[in-house]
Amino acid sequence: MVQTSSTLSIPQTGQVPCHVAIIMDGNGRWATKRHLPRTAGHVRGVQAVRRAVEACGHRGVRYLTLFAFSSENWRRPAHEVSVLMRLFIRTLEKEVDKLIAQGVCLRIVGDLSAFDAKLQDLIREAERKTAGQTTLTLTIAANYGGRWDILQAAQALLRDHPELSAHPEHLDEAALTSRLAMAYAPEPDLFIRTGGEQRISNFLIWQLAYAELYFTDCFWPDFGAVEIDQAFAWYRDRERRFGRTSEQLRSPA
Ligand code: IPE
Ligand code: IPE
Ligand code: MG
Repeated sequence: MVQTSSTLSIPQTGQVPCHVAIIMDGNGRWATKRHLPRTAGHVRGVQAVRRAVEACGHRGVRYLTLFAFSSENWRRPAHEVSVLMRLFIRTLEKEVDKLIAQGVCLRIVGDLSAFDAKLQDLIREAERKTAGQTTLTLTIAANYGGRWDILQAAQALLRDHPELSAHPEHLDEAALTSRLAMAYAPEPDLFIRTGGEQRISNFLIWQLAYAELYFTDCFWPDFGAVEIDQAFAWYRDRERRFGRTSEQLRSPA
């Protein structure tokens, strides 16, 4: 399916965001506050992932995208990275049947070549098993970076269309967008970051062009249905103008 672009045309919007993208932040601080190792926060964070998937599914969200591991998170202590990888493997092994029961199609985006072979196999297998599900598309961004995504899209485009280098003016937004890792999804309507920081941290930098940005101090392991409803209530009150004036929205030509 070709997705519409917020800069090429005005997207249709509704009361419930069609695509919610979340930076799941604050696991470490959640744990530290309790005098637990940071990794205990990551373990606990998996429960919040389950809650978010269920709550979004019930509220009619069609795409939920969760930032699980950034291209910069390799800079963390080796022990923490290895716990995160094991947690990722264990969760994939355990959750696929539950996802199918909930009608969830799972996609993983990011530079997966950095993961070990077992994890890559599990990812492919989980994507294959859930491919037919249509209630909610759950995307996990793992070893993902927005800059990586734009670069790999440009490289793929040039590989397929070497003639573009002689005619760069033929390169357009739609062509580039179609090569992004999440070309299958519309742009996020609502971006949520838990944990109190107000930054994008190299998440979906291209696709967030017109997303509504919601920041909450709630640490990710504490995030659940109540917090989702708060974010959605905030979202309903936004006036999404996409460059137009309020007057134009009230009386469309
Ligand atoms: C987010 O929580 C999880 C990952 C980045 C994998 P953090 O681990 O960043 O938690 P804080 O920000 O240190 O509290
Ligand atoms: C962003 O969180 C990445 C994920 C949640 C996976 P970080 O905790 O890594 O972001 P910074 O370093 O505070 O910007
Ligand atoms: Mg963090």
